[in-house]
Amino acid sequence: MTAAPSNTDDGTMARPGGATQPGIATNIVWHHSTVTRAARAHQRGHRSAILWFTGLSGAGKSTLANAVNSALFEQGLACYVLDGDNVRHGLCADLGFSDADREENIRRIGEVAKLFLDAGVVVLTAFVSPFRADRRRARALVEGGDFFEIHCAADLGVCEQRDTKGLYAKARAGQIKEFTGISSPYEEPEAPELRIDTGSQSLEESVAQVLTYLESQGVVPAAGEG
Ligand code: ADX
Repeated sequence: MTAAPSNTDDGTMARPGGATQPGIATNIVWHHSTVTRAARAHQRGHRSAILWFTGLSGAGKSTLANAVNSALFEQGLACYVLDGDNVRHGLCADLGFSDADREENIRRIGEVAKLFLDAGVVVLTAFVSPFRADRRRARALVEGGDFFEIHCAADLGVCEQRDTKGLYAKARAGQIKEFTGISSPYEEPEAPELRIDTGSQSLEESVAQVLTYLESQGVVPAAGEG
């Protein structure tokens, strides 16, 4: 079970993973749930996890996350996709694409993903999440072994050629500022749990690669089990 964050004397909030940040709200006390994550896992027959898909726009994060989600759902797992474009219609509708706004976007998603983890759900996040520090912070919110970073590694040339949403053309024409890969950086993961060549392999191959990995990690019950 993840330790509860705790208020410290200097008004900061200590967080699981060791990070602190200025506490705006004080006099708040963590309430422990009577239904634990372990109890949920026992009832559902599988553990929860965060599958953090990262990569350039057009690399196939949403497509792959949705296909994996469908496969998990078919197998009876509790699972859910948090998608960048969708979340930016609601929870993060107040954020743009400056470095600071992306940082806040990823901070919120990290926290939401952590809630899903506690709720016993396999949560798949599909965000560009271009900065290593932001991904590291999201990872640090949970215990080791609960967070799987999956790099959708289609390179810029492929993504720009696909240009499924027409955004690269607009970015090249200067109509979109701070566009990842064009006028804003993408920091590739240095040690992701999985690197998927979404630039050249088929969706089916990519889904199989993720599922095999999840079986090896005990997230998805191996064929014949469960
Ligand atoms: S993140 O950088 O904060 O992680 P997020 O994944 O939420 O980004 O949103 C990325 C999506 O927003 C892209 O798939 C694309 O459709 C759209 N988008 C619009 N403007 C930009 C931009 N300047 N840079 C990257 N993506 C953008």
